[in-house]
Amino acid sequence: MIKFDNVAKVYGHKAAVDHISFEVKEGEFFVLIGPSGCGKTTTLKMINRLIPLSSGYIYFKDQPISHYKLDEMRWDIGYVLQQIALFPHMTVRDNIAQVPMMKKWSTDRIDEQINRLLDMVGLPHEQYRDRYPSELSGGQQQRIGVVRALAADPPVILMDEPFSALDPISREKLQDDLLQLQSEINKTIIFVTHDINEAFKLGDRICLMNQGRIEQIGTPRDFVDRPNSEFVRSFIGHTKIERHAADCIQPLPYDGRYPAVRPDTPVSELYKLLAEQEQLNVIDTEYRGAVTRPSVFQALSKGVAE
Ligand SMILES: Nc1ncnc2c1ncn2[C@@H]1O[C@H](COP(=O)(O)OP(=O)(O)OP(=O)(O)O)[C@@H](O)[C@H]1O
Ligand SMILES: [Mg+2]
Repeated sequence: MIKFDNVAKVYGHKAAVDHISFEVKEGEFFVLIGPSGCGKTTTLKMINRLIPLSSGYIYFKDQPISHYKLDEMRWDIGYVLQQIALFPHMTVRDNIAQVPMMKKWSTDRIDEQINRLLDMVGLPHEQYRDRYPSELSGGQQQRIGVVRALAADPPVILMDEPFSALDPISREKLQDDLLQLQSEINKTIIFVTHDINEAFKLGDRICLMNQGRIEQIGTPRDFVDRPNSEFVRSFIGHTKIERHAADCIQPLPYDGRYPAVRPDTPVSELYKLLAEQEQLNVIDTEYRGAVTRPSVFQALSKGVAE
């Protein structure tokens, strides 16, 4: 869907992004993380051509981004800026409606979509759609920024620390909504964050950057089980990923005497059940294997920080 081929961005003598290559697949939730100044925003802005490349290629759907008409490409790529930039003289509704209007959606369709999204992010539309940005808190403006990026249903969404100004509860809720949205309609999302817990929760894969280069790309599990440098290890620190039944499976034959659990049953729940049972059957649409006390301990012992 989006491919970086040896891309660099140089300012003066300093590379903000230093010859990076990676590919984001369609429908993937891809997280860019790394210390301040490592090049995350620059990487994101090069995708929709807010920043021109110094060298290399970025492909969008198999064509270099320079082959696309700028407007059309931007309609296909929703973008949540790190610094919220709402039009101050427009209401919330009109701020959100810009791209759907350019795509010539009917007014009814636009308003339906806006109301639905405002409600989704916890800003009831009756109350908020006719306000001006100056009548919103910073966190509320940030949520409008998220809604604006989603409004025209773009297949690709770039999000630069979209939840950084939110309290933990709103933040968790929006994370859940975003995951839900992505699983329902298969969006490709590139998401920048500073927060390793957020990265682990949201990312199918995570790309950890450092001084314009890529330190490691992989699943959250790869980072915990196989950090490939001291930098990666110290960056993830003591963060653990919660394990589920699916992570503890042993390939034992099905035994109907034992109870069934779903693959997403958390380990804490398995403990309780295993206090009384020798074995649990992991079943979703079919039998996946068994969980036993040793298999749970084995799974937990992986990735424990040394
Ligand atoms: N217009 C510019 N001119 C010169 N240097 C720049 C410019 N924009 C960014 N940089 C430099 O490029 C590097 C990467 O910046 P970038 O904004 O991509 O970092 P970031 O990873 O998004 O950081 P943060 O987490 O603080 O948002 C930084 O060292 C920054 O100072
Ligand atoms: Mg940034």
